[in-house]
Amino acid sequence: MKTIYFAASSIDGFISDKNNSLDWLFQFGEPKGNYIENFVNTVGALAMGSGTYEWMCNSLPGVGNGQWPYKVPAFVFTTRNLSVYPGADIRFVKGDVNSVHQMMAIEAKDKNIWIVGGGELAGKFYDAQLLDELIIQFVSVTLGEGVPLFPRNMKKPLKLESVQRLDQEFVEVRYSV
Ligand SMILES: NC(=O)c1ccc[n+]([C@@H]2O[C@H](COP(=O)([O-])OP(=O)(O)OC[C@H]3O[C@@H](n4cnc5c(N)ncnc54)[C@H](OP(=O)(O)O)[C@@H]3O)[C@@H](O)[C@H]2O)c1
Repeated sequence: MKTIYFAASSIDGFISDKNNSLDWLFQFGEPKGNYIENFVNTVGALAMGSGTYEWMCNSLPGVGNGQWPYKVPAFVFTTRNLSVYPGADIRFVKGDVNSVHQMMAIEAKDKNIWIVGGGELAGKFYDAQLLDELIIQFVSVTLGEGVPLFPRNMKKPLKLESVQRLDQEFVEVRYSV
């Protein structure tokens, strides 16, 4: 079981533009080859911040039609009282990532834990030495500003595990921590 931050990023390191939009990503569709589906099939629990959750509920294609995309438990970090997306297994959590990670590991069993984002939340898992891998799909655009991919100043470099061209517009880079 690994804990993995898997995200798509502009090449200048943003996961969302300054308007909280992912149009820069969705203009290309998904890379051919079921890479995202294959990754999601390895996952037994996932975590995201409330910004990502609200973006998914309001803007992710398909979700507006009542289709939550994940079957596994989604741990959503928030200090507010948010609504559970109908039919989805949503667990609202807050505070220290260590205790939430323990709950996630129980749910995930031998499958992976996916840190969906944002970057600051992924950074908190890194700070707590809970992050094993980063899988970043870089898209061939720059944004200039937006939500940062991973706002951390690392003392020790990541280990580059693989680089794969996925499609005309995507390159997937895998690092272990
Ligand atoms: N390109 C990609 O692959 C990708 C991946 C993920 C996200 N995104 C995008 O990134 C954007 C969202 O980013 P974001 O900066 O808003 O980050 P986020 O991590 O989704 O949300 C941040 C919020 O989560 C809550 N939170 C975080 N840590 C917490 C903790 N320990 N305890 C309690 N609450 C906590 C707080 O909200 P409260 O005010 O509710 O307490 C905080 O303001 C969206 O546009 C999303 O689409 C893109």
